[in-house]
Amino acid sequence: MLPDRACPEWIGALNEMNFPKNRIPQLKEISKVLLEHTGWSVAAVPALIGFTEFFQLLANKQFPVATFIRRREHFDYLQEPDVFHEVFGHTPPLTDHRFAAFVEAYGKAGLAADPKDHAMLARLFWFSVEFGLVASAEGTRSYGSGIISSPGELVYATESDTPERKAFDPVDVLRTPYRIDIYQPIYFVIESFDQLFDLANSDLLGHIKEARRLGMHAPTFPPKEAV
Ligand SMILES: [Fe+2]
Repeated sequence: MLPDRACPEWIGALNEMNFPKNRIPQLKEISKVLLEHTGWSVAAVPALIGFTEFFQLLANKQFPVATFIRRREHFDYLQEPDVFHEVFGHTPPLTDHRFAAFVEAYGKAGLAADPKDHAMLARLFWFSVEFGLVASAEGTRSYGSGIISSPGELVYATESDTPERKAFDPVDVLRTPYRIDIYQPIYFVIESFDQLFDLANSDLLGHIKEARRLGMHAPTFPPKEAV
């Protein structure tokens, strides 16, 4: 499903990973490839970890990986990150130095940020690393791991007329609320991975300050129904 939906950098990175086709790749093998490319590695964690541990790992160029695998009935989408999402979705682009620099800078900004800004920083990660789109000469492509590990959202995010696709502006992103249990109503589109590299070298905490000054955008989705 990836050709014409995932960006060429992402597909190239998947080839670099050279995942085995008949078994779950082991973390040691993944770390070996990442270390050779960008000095990153992966660290096994329980499904969800706190902000501080998350930021600490990223700042040390270690990507946290939950190691359980989803059940067959959750093949298309589940809210918790499983090993398929983490390994197949997240690790390939960490071989790209521009993408890797952004994730490292994000972790460092998280460590330096006031805890009250953690939820705002989470939006930056959500709309890039997890649900990011990138423009290409052939059309809009995905590089976000949340999209790439969901066959349904991969088609929706790149081909459907329903979602809104906005040019990626970090302050705008920080002001945009999201839900984790629906296909995204809004995606942000970067021009290329160079934009992530520029973002890595920008004043992320300054962007937060500006987003706070301007205030949150109203949600474009209905509130979550009580269950
Ligand atoms: Fe993720």
